This record gives sequence, C-alpha cells and structure tokens, in this order.
Amino acid sequence: MFWKQMPRRKMKVSLLLLVLLWEAESQPALRPNFVLLMADDLGVGDLGCYGNKTLRTPNIDTLASGGVKLTQHLAASPLCTPSRASFMTGRYPIRLGMAALTRMGVYLFTASSGGLPTSEVTFARLLRDQGYSTALIGKWHLGINCHNTTDFCHHPLRHGFDYFYGLPTTNLRDCKSGEGTVFSTAYRELVFFPLQLIGVTMFTLAMLRFLRLILVPVGVFIILFLLAGLILILFLCFLHYFRPLNCFLMQNYEISQQPMSFDNLTQRLTLEATGFIRRNAEKPFLLFLSYVHVHTALFSSKDFTNKSRHGLYGDAVEEMDWSVGQVLNVLDELGLANNTLVYFTSDQGAHVEEVTSKGEMHGGSNGIYKGGKGNNWEGGIRIPGILRWPRVIQAGLETDEPTSNMDVFPTIAKLAGAPLPPDRVIDGRDLMPLIQGKSQHSDHEFLFHYCNAYLNAVRWYPPNSKSIWKMLYFTPKFNPEGANGCFSTHVCFCFGNYITHHDPPLLFDLSRDPRERSPLTPATEPRFHEILRTMQEVADNHTRSLREVPNQLSAWNVLWKPWLQLCCPSPSSSLSCQCDREKQGQRMSN
Ligand SMILES: *[C@@H]1O[C@H](CO)[C@@H](O)[C@H](O)[C@H]1NC(C)=O
Ligand SMILES: *[C@@H]1O[C@H](CO)[C@@H](O)[C@H](O)[C@H]1NC(C)=O
Ligand SMILES: *[C@@H]1O[C@H](CO)[C@@H](O)[C@H](O)[C@H]1NC(C)=O
Ligand SMILES: *[C@@H]1O[C@H](CO)[C@@H](O)[C@H](O)[C@H]1NC(C)=O
Ligand SMILES: *[C@@H]1O[C@H](CO)[C@@H](O)[C@H](O)[C@H]1NC(C)=O
Ligand SMILES: *[C@@H]1O[C@H](CO)[C@@H](O)[C@H](O)[C@H]1NC(C)=O
Repeated sequence: MFWKQMPRRKMKVSLLLLVLLWEAESQPALRPNFVLLMADDLGVGDLGCYGNKTLRTPNIDTLASGGVKLTQHLAASPLCTPSRASFMTGRYPIRLGMAALTRMGVYLFTASSGGLPTSEVTFARLLRDQGYSTALIGKWHLGINCHNTTDFCHHPLRHGFDYFYGLPTTNLRDCKSGEGTVFSTAYRELVFFPLQLIGVTMFTLAMLRFLRLILVPVGVFIILFLLAGLILILFLCFLHYFRPLNCFLMQNYEISQQPMSFDNLTQRLTLEATGFIRRNAEKPFLLFLSYVHVHTALFSSKDFTNKSRHGLYGDAVEEMDWSVGQVLNVLDELGLANNTLVYFTSDQGAHVEEVTSKGEMHGGSNGIYKGGKGNNWEGGIRIPGILRWPRVIQAGLETDEPTSNMDVFPTIAKLAGAPLPPDRVIDGRDLMPLIQGKSQHSDHEFLFHYCNAYLNAVRWYPPNSKSIWKMLYFTPKFNPEGANGCFSTHVCFCFGNYITHHDPPLLFDLSRDPRERSPLTPATEPRFHEILRTMQEVADNHTRSLREVPNQLSAWNVLWKPWLQLCCPSPSSSLSCQCDREKQGQRMSN
C-alpha cells in the first residue's frame, strides 16, 4: 500500500535509503566500543613498551604492540584535576575554570564546592546521547556538590555516566594510616610557626614580668595558652578526621565504604570494570577505568606485594598491569576485542618528589625527561599514549608527532557519530588521520602549556619542519640545588618566589634536545628572535580567545565546607561517618 502510492523514482530512492540504513545498522564496526584506561601519576618511563627494562608490564606492552604507541603524547596540564577535566572535555583547563590562581591546583577535600561545571560537555555525555552505555570506574577528582549534600552538581552521573563506582576525589598519603601527609607545608605555616610564635611571645612576656619591667596581666597568658591549645586541637582533629571524611568509595550517589579500604581495591575495581563489559557485550559501551594506582598512598594486594624490583611503587604498577590484562582478556573472551578501541594513558608525569622519610621512592620515572608532575618541563606532561583497535589500527605502529590527551574527546566523538558541540572551542584534534596514515603531520601546530592558570610554555611544530620549538616564560626553582624537583614543597608551584621568570623566554628545539638541557641563543639559533616573535603572537591570539568563566579552583571553591560533607550514617554512632557496604555484601551488584 505504502509502496503503491509512491511514484516509481521516489520509491527507488527510498529503497536505496533503506538499504543504506540497513547496512549501517548491520555494521557495528562503524561504532566501536571504547575502553579508556588511565593511570594516576604513572611516568612514561615506567612501562616496558616505553623502555623500562626492570618493571614488568607485559599486558600494557602487549596492548602497545597490538596497536599504536604515541611517543610525544602530552597531558593538557601537569596536575590531576585540570588534566582530567581537559581529557573529559577536549578543552584547555583554563577555558573550564579548572585552573587555579593559588597554590592549590587540585581538590583535596570531598566537601569542596568547585568542580567540572555541567555547562561543559564530556565525551561520556556525547556518547550516551548516541545510545552508548557509559561507566566510570575508579577515580573522578572533578568535584561532587555545589550548594548542599544532595545537589551532586559535579558528580560523574551528571556528566554523562550511567554508572559510577569509585573515588569521588583522590587517593592521598593521608588516606592510609602511617603513610605521612601531603599537608606538611601547610602544617608548617598554619601550626608549627604560630605555635613557635606564641611560645616565644609567652616566654618574652614572662621574662618582662619576672624582671618587673612590664606588669603583664595573667589574663594575657591564659589567652595565649588557650590559643595554642586550640591550634593544637584543631590540628589533631584534622589529622584524625581527614581519612574518614575524604577517602571513601561511592557507588552512584551512595557511599559504599567510608573510610575506603585498600584491601583488594584494584581487584574490586577490575571486577566492576569486567562486570560492566559483560553486561553490555550486546550494545555499544564506553568504559572509563580510572585507576587509583599509582598515586600515593601506595598499596597492592598480597599477590603483588614484594614481587617487583622497585619496591611498593613497582608492586603497584605491576598490579595495575595485571588489571589491564584482565580487562583485555574479557574483551577477547566475549569476542569484542576487534571492535573495541582501547586507550591507555596516565593523567600526567610521575611525581618525582614522592620520596618517603625513609628515602624509598614512591614516585615513578619520567624516563629521560626533566621534571615531573606539577611543572611543564617535559617530564611533567609526557604521558604514555597507546591505542589499539585491531580492525582499524595497524599493529606495531609508533608515532612521534605531538598529540594531546585532549584529542581523545574529538576522536571518540567522531567514531561514535556524535557531532561536536558547536558553541565552544575544542582544543583537541581527531587522532585517526594520523594513526591511519592519512596524515603525516600532527594537527597541533601550537600547544599551550599552563601551570595552573599561568601560561608557562608554548610549543610550536611548524608545517614542513622537523623542529619542535618550546618556549618557557618561567621555570620552577628546583630545590635543593641541582635536584630534579621541588622537594621542600613536595610539588612545584607556579608563581611568586617559587619560579624564575625568563625574558626573553627560554627556547628549546625538542627534536634535538628532548631533555631540555641547552636553551638556544641567537648565536646557536640564527632565527631565535623570529621564532620567539611568532610564538608570542600566537600566544597573544590564544590569550585573547579566552572567555571569563567562574573559577572552580578559587580558594573558596577548594576549601572544606562542613555543610557539603558526605557522611555515611554509621549504625553505632551518628557522628563517626563510617560504613562498609562492601564487606557486608550490601552494595548492589550491577
Ligand atoms: C540542594 O540544592 C538544590 C539546588 O540548589 C536544590 O534544588 C535542593 O532543594 C537542595 N536540597 C536541599 C535538601 O536543601
Ligand atoms: C582479597 O582477595 C583474595 C583472593 O580473592 C581473598 O582470598 C582475600 O580474602 C581478599 N581479602 C580481603 C580483605 O577481602
Ligand atoms: C613484604 O616485605 C616486608 C619487608 O621485608 C615484610 O614485612 C612483609 O610482610 C612482606 N609482605 C608480604 C605480603 O610478603
Ligand atoms: C580480529 O581481527 C583480526 C585481524 O583483522 C583477525 O585476524 C581475527 O580473526 C579477528 N578476530 C575475530 C574474533 O573476529
Ligand atoms: C623503571 O621504573 C622504575 C620505577 O619507576 C625506575 O626506578 C627505573 O629507573 C625505570 N627504568 C628506566 C630504564 O627508566
Ligand atoms: C593572530 O590573530 C590575528 C587576528 O586574528 C591574525 O591576523 C594573525 O595572523 C594571528 N597571528 C598568528 C601568528 O596566527
């Protein structure tokens, strides 16, 4: 009936359309699944496939040999929170308001009000709108609430994930008893110095009173004494409560373990990840498995403890590698491997200042590169980048073209058939032309390297050129003298007395000097001034393209806000914020 009413020609076209539609439907290969694996604080020098000879990462190495290895893959920022925000959205952190003007470039409290704004579009949201099942397993670190404990305005489920299981904030030394603290600089300034000052003042006043020079009223002593007591009590409370209040696991909007236990943590995350794949074997899915490894506090399950040649750190890397193997095995077992794009990376360079009081290395290796997490020497931003998709990406490829972790956003959006949001600048570039050999040259002619909100360096890879120019406006003051990091503050800072400004900026050609050892001069590079001039002009253009946005990492937005504190009501006491639905098997298994 329907056919009869149509003119012949129109019917032919309709049939053709139907056939085309049917073909598109029957070729799921056009829309692959995505498994995105991200390590925390892993250095590019930690993996076998990137040249490490003593750490064993056979599963990640296999992944690399089955796909393409990016050897100039760059994090959008050398710090977790901003780098992850850019990874999720394909945009520089500064455009998202995820770049701090203060020293605190990441969230340390779960009860902070800042986070990734819902006005930003994540790849998870794009893919979910295309019918993908989406899950985040592991670390988020992009905020939870804005105004109260139930708005969940920054929560993963508000950013396109159908399912979330993991850490809303981050693992920290303070999450494990006996591991030390990341707040030592803050303690010195907020506790140690004030107590010292009060002590000296009291002693001086006592002497003056004793010598009968000034009659100091006793009340002054009492007030000073109470003040010192208050500072001490607050400090002890902070130490005591930090762990339960900030280190917990959530499943969707519910707390499932508070404080978080490290027992079999990687096994639990892995089981969640493989479970999600199994549940979605029949439909397109996106899994973002964001490891707690290998950030401090370091941990590993019994099977991996004391097994590596690099202490606890090596054990943690090897356990993570095991987990990657488990995920790949499930893809094989379900026959999904050929149609799944697997990506492996780290959020930024290794944290070289992570050395315990006993001198044990708890940070990783950035290979030949200078610096690490927190600064924009190459060591801070060079990250592993591995993509495997057997049907499409030729195995065993390697490319040294500059690529960014922001590129994942437009790449997977395109493969999933999702149009990019047209109303905003996307800084990432589609990786497929480069990987499939359709393009020989990276689309990133320029990249901007920010240290929090401060433009730190510019990278220029001119067309028809082998040179990769990098100009640095400032560099961190490493300490102690001659060290490869800022050991007195645990991480380098981006402004003030913590940095050295360079005018003219330092200029390197990374293609000849990847270790950034010899800055070029007009004598060693005849085009010195011309190169700097061009880069400066582009940097000015870039800066002009930025829009004013709310600062999600302002002092106010990173503060601990008691009214935002999530707390699992404990059966025994209403005050303690403790529960464990993992052990009691109360957690809904999905
Ligand atoms: C929490 O904040 C949201 C958004 O501001 C509001 O809609 C909601 O009613 C608030 N909930 C409570 C319990 O105050
Ligand atoms: C960790 O997993 C192992 C092996 O499955 C199991 O034997 C052990 O009891 C688990 N430990 C905890 C604390 O759950
Ligand atoms: C690992 O080695 C340390 C120090 O030798 C030891 O105390 C600990 O019990 C060992 N742990 C395991 C699980 O073998
Ligand atoms: C996966 O793709 C490879 C290479 O194209 C092919 O050799 C293999 O048979 C495929 N496996 C499956 C299960 O389709
Ligand atoms: C391998 O990784 C370990 C742990 O980070 C590191 O100590 C070692 O130097 C690395 N080896 C190479 C060759 O980079
Ligand atoms: C900077 O922007 C101006 C105006 O849009 C443009 O004419 C100029 O070519 C740009 N400079 C560079 C180096 O891209």
